[in-house]
Amino acid sequence: MNSLGVFTAAALLGATAVAGASSRCSAEVLEQLLPENAVLETVANVTANGTFGEGAPDIAYPTNPTGLPELCALIVNVTSSSTSSYRFGLFLPEEWNSRFLAVGNGGFAGGINWLDMGAGAHYRFATVSTDTGHNSTSGDVTWALHQEEKKYDFGYRAMQGSVGLAKEITKGYYGAAAAYSYYSGCSTGGRQGLKEAQVSPDHFDGVLVGAPAWYTSHMQPWTTKVGIYNLPENGTNHISTDLFTVIAAEVINQCDEIDGVKDGIVSRPDICNFNSTTLSCDLPTANASACLTATQLETLANIYSDYYVNGTFAFPGPLLSSEPQWFAVLSGDTPSTLGYEYVQYFVLDEADWAWEQYNDSIIPTAEKMDPGNCTADDYDMSAIRDNGAKIILYHGMADGLIPTYSSKVFYERAADAMGGVEELSDWFRFFFVPGMGHCDSTAVDAPWYFAGANQAGSLSTSAYSTPGFMDAEHDALLALMRWVENGTAVDTLIATTWTDSSDPDSGVLRQRPLCPYPSMAQWDQVGDPDVATSWSCVEE
Ligand SMILES: *[C@@H]1O[C@H](CO)[C@@H](O)[C@H](O)[C@H]1NC(C)=O
Ligand SMILES: *[C@@H]1O[C@H](CO)[C@@H](O)[C@H](O)[C@H]1NC(C)=O
Ligand SMILES: *[C@@H]1O[C@H](CO)[C@@H](O)[C@H](O)[C@H]1NC(C)=O
Ligand SMILES: *[C@@H]1O[C@H](CO)[C@@H](O)[C@H](O)[C@H]1NC(C)=O
Ligand SMILES: *[C@@H]1O[C@H](CO)[C@@H](O)[C@H](O)[C@H]1NC(C)=O
Ligand SMILES: *[C@@H]1O[C@H](CO)[C@@H](O)[C@H](O)[C@H]1NC(C)=O
Ligand SMILES: *[C@@H]1O[C@H](CO)[C@@H](O)[C@H](O)[C@H]1NC(C)=O
Ligand SMILES: *[C@@H]1O[C@H](CO)[C@@H](O)[C@H](O)[C@H]1NC(C)=O
Ligand SMILES: *[C@@H]1O[C@H](CO)[C@@H](O)[C@H](O)[C@H]1NC(C)=O
Ligand SMILES: *[C@@H]1O[C@H](CO)[C@@H](O)[C@H](O)[C@H]1NC(C)=O
Ligand SMILES: *[C@@H]1O[C@H](CO)[C@@H](O)[C@H](O)[C@H]1NC(C)=O
Repeated sequence: MNSLGVFTAAALLGATAVAGASSRCSAEVLEQLLPENAVLETVANVTANGTFGEGAPDIAYPTNPTGLPELCALIVNVTSSSTSSYRFGLFLPEEWNSRFLAVGNGGFAGGINWLDMGAGAHYRFATVSTDTGHNSTSGDVTWALHQEEKKYDFGYRAMQGSVGLAKEITKGYYGAAAAYSYYSGCSTGGRQGLKEAQVSPDHFDGVLVGAPAWYTSHMQPWTTKVGIYNLPENGTNHISTDLFTVIAAEVINQCDEIDGVKDGIVSRPDICNFNSTTLSCDLPTANASACLTATQLETLANIYSDYYVNGTFAFPGPLLSSEPQWFAVLSGDTPSTLGYEYVQYFVLDEADWAWEQYNDSIIPTAEKMDPGNCTADDYDMSAIRDNGAKIILYHGMADGLIPTYSSKVFYERAADAMGGVEELSDWFRFFFVPGMGHCDSTAVDAPWYFAGANQAGSLSTSAYSTPGFMDAEHDALLALMRWVENGTAVDTLIATTWTDSSDPDSGVLRQRPLCPYPSMAQWDQVGDPDVATSWSCVEE
């Protein structure tokens, strides 16, 4: 409990002040902990209920966390080669829970993720985030042109190096190494988590991976390809964003009740036999402003389709129910820059290449080159398993940016490489999140919140854990910690949403369990479907 008598996750984790630590929050002391290629850029004492960050100049993460506990904040700049350097931010709370946490990034963002660091500091972790070695917004890949070393920093070196050094600083600051180390990231952050598990199997005891962009060499080309299906913007094949809403509604109409509950949440997109002809403008009953022409229906089929190159599977299409988020990669007069700028600046290194020149040969080319070694496809992760670590992977079924099944592909390939799903589930579990979009949010009032990466920041600048439910049942990070530290396997995670889905003060609307793949949540047909205990995880 805190001084107001409110139970907090920080208290649960036994955070206590470390004698003498705050006196070490100074340049003189901290500089002694740095290797030759690292420079202390900033060090500051942050008082209780304070704020810290770079604000607007951190163009990727301009929002500073607020309400921070008392802590020492620093920024370190590490030279990684003669043409590259990366920076990281580190929060060292006055009351320390004796643990270390690294948080991830998003898209191609180059910047320290202060907001996710803030959430980590609230639990009283020593919390690190790297800028990945460049300075850009999420959708800007122009920085990569002819910058092989910067690509490596983005690929894995900045995270690997920041975690390694931040752990050393943490140890020097508190006078003791962290008892346990964790990772939490979504999207690119999910990729970084899997990559770290592969390249630094001794870095973490627990890794929380959301909607990972792990298949860089295939996903970014797919993002270009799927964008092109819906272009040009004035073409007869183009489906406008307002029609995505119409399609989404028809998907719910046809697919919602397969799981036995009519709630607008599609939890079995995999077995819904969606008939898009019901949207055809050719039907006598068609609504002319809410129908699709034959060419648009072809575009729709292409969007959902898996991507094959010369008969070989390259990347999965998005699931039914992801339509509300399609605007992110299927609107505008070009494909998403996340897709074609990767091809242009990462793979081809050709400033004058245009997305109109895209063809399927990019897949084998990107796979062979994999600039920066971004792709996290080392499926045999037995080294981190043998260290006793645990991994939780989750992915929203309504993700419109990173197709949900890319995580299933990863999990199944990992299972194949390491003895099957049953073996894998001893230490690595995968949770689908019906109705959740990319990393956070829901368009259909689905329970989406479980304190995954980025989620607290989408509630407020001072939120952390699951407001009102700060326990290992409702908070994926606490669940992972309990698995690692106490051996309690994560058999279920309870996801929450509120009447206003991003405002816990509006009251709980629904809670429902998420289930480890291949099991699924099934309603008991009796209890209130908005209450978690009315559901259980079952295997088909
Ligand atoms: C932070 O406060 C401590 C005293 O608690 C002091 O020793 C230290 O010099 C301060 N650091 C900075 C950067 O002001
Ligand atoms: C914390 O700071 C905020 C402003 O950032 C202020 O509104 C609030 O009253 C402060 N809370 C306490 C307990 O001091
Ligand atoms: C990043 O770029 C912004 C805008 O160009 C600039 O204000 C900021 O200082 C840069 N940050 C770093 C760390 O170089
Ligand atoms: C970090 O250090 C490198 C190498 O000294 C330097 O080129 C770069 O400008 C520094 N970055 C910042 C943001 O100061
Ligand atoms: C779309 O716009 C381009 C360029 O303005 C034009 O050449 C083309 O005919 C237009 N296509 C349609 C289907 O209107
Ligand atoms: C698909 O919907 C169309 C239009 O309602 C209908 O004519 C057709 O029979 C349906 N196809 C299937 C396989 O149900
Ligand atoms: C036709 O579709 C439009 C756009 O979705 C909607 O506003 C309108 O109510 C529909 N008309 C009928 C008769 O259903
Ligand atoms: C496919 O694209 C690559 C890269 O732009 C180009 O080198 C190649 O000639 C293209 N192939 C065809 C058949 O157009
Ligand atoms: C597809 O296979 C054909 C025949 O082997 C080959 O010429 C072509 O380059 C392949 N295309 C791609 C994109 O791999
Ligand atoms: C690339 O990353 C993989 C892990 O995904 C690792 O096994 C491999 O050693 C790395 N290769 C290089 C050249 O860094
Ligand atoms: C482990 O179990 C102990 C005893 O029940 C509890 O106090 C502690 O909070 C648990 N640790 C975690 C990380 O859940």
